[in-house]
Amino acid sequence: MESKSVSGFSKLSREQKISWLKYHFLHQEEVDCIFDQYRLNDEVIQKIIDGFSENTVSNFIMPYGLAPNFLIDGQIYCVPMVIEESSVVAAASSAAKYWMDRGGFKTEILGTTKVGQVHFLWHGNKELIRALFPQIKAALLEKATAITENMVKRGGGITNVELIDFTDEEPGLYQIRAHFETCDSMGANFINSTLENFANSLEEFFVDHASIPDNMRDVNIIMSILSNYTPECLVRAEVFCPVNELGTFANGMMAETLAEKFRMAVQIAHIDPYRATTHNKGIFNGIDSVILATGNDFRATEAAGHTYAARNGRYSSLSYCEIKDGIFHFWLDIPLAIGTVGGLTSLHPLAKKTLDILGNPSAQQLMRIIASVGLAQNFAAVRSLVTTGIQQGHMKMHLMNILHHLNASETESAAAVIFFEDKTISFSGVRDFLMGIRK
Ligand code: MEV
Repeated sequence: MESKSVSGFSKLSREQKISWLKYHFLHQEEVDCIFDQYRLNDEVIQKIIDGFSENTVSNFIMPYGLAPNFLIDGQIYCVPMVIEESSVVAAASSAAKYWMDRGGFKTEILGTTKVGQVHFLWHGNKELIRALFPQIKAALLEKATAITENMVKRGGGITNVELIDFTDEEPGLYQIRAHFETCDSMGANFINSTLENFANSLEEFFVDHASIPDNMRDVNIIMSILSNYTPECLVRAEVFCPVNELGTFANGMMAETLAEKFRMAVQIAHIDPYRATTHNKGIFNGIDSVILATGNDFRATEAAGHTYAARNGRYSSLSYCEIKDGIFHFWLDIPLAIGTVGGLTSLHPLAKKTLDILGNPSAQQLMRIIASVGLAQNFAAVRSLVTTGIQQGHMKMHLMNILHHLNASETESAAAVIFFEDKTISFSGVRDFLMGIRK
């Protein structure tokens, strides 16, 4: 059998990579070339996009949708969302409009601190390292000034450096935990460069410092890297209104019933990790879509969010609901370490456009917007779960997708929507229906 392994793959040209792929993994008749179809005609931009990753042969297209009517802290936004799941943008838009009529979203930045760590082993005397730590800290900070000075000019920099002792869990294990303010940038490069500089300075300190016995000079740096857990880079988004202004819901459900069922649905997500995971996934449907549309790192924000959801020892809901003195109050606390400068935010043409659409927000403003979209998404999902059930909306989108696939006209689509209102939707059912009316 022909070997499918390869070496030097990255050195092949794009055309060679595709030929290799066709030969080893695709049928020959599957030639030309979906990969070409989805490349951009604009070679300059295509080169930029290719540069984001490695071994690139094409672009993977995702829908870019708009959710209008987001009233956030008194300002109206139209929020771009990149997502492949049907109903998400529709749900966000619907919740945005609903809350626009009830005062909109209010937000609060609860913190903007990010964290990085130097993990190291040192087998000396605990009291000594503790006693020396103020000097260690001063040396680390001083030697990092070349890296930090620009960030300091922008109003950021290192806000604290701590020594964490893990020696009870692993002999000799310590950590330098540094706290950072990175202003409008996500700050990953800044933080990681500073940490690697800290690691060098730490080794030097132990080699040079007079009061360290010779048998304790050896510091073994394990690794230096930012933490994606950012519980102090946190934003709150909330909505509230009198229960009796919630309106009436599908199947004539009254406001009081909705409010109580809704509160209970959120409570279930606080009690049961199985439900909490799905509940939070709904929140991330909204959050990830805007994170992607702005060129931010959705893996980082997801990781932080899920760890934060488990901060009390049990994975739980990221959102909260309370009904007190006749007021329905629903809010979300979410760590969001994001940027509006640097990285993809200005390189990716659509990420740049998204930021334009959002009024070129600061990182803090973007945190407020994204948290509001997450809360809106969560509101829409739970509202449909406790009223009509989720399938109604999904099935409508499913029907529209099938109709689109079968090239249905507007009149045919309208007829199909009425026909399938109380029927199960399937591809063959819709095809038969269209064949029937086309006869
Ligand atoms: C589907 O993508 C998201 C939901 O399952 C969220 C939820 O159950 O709350 C609808």
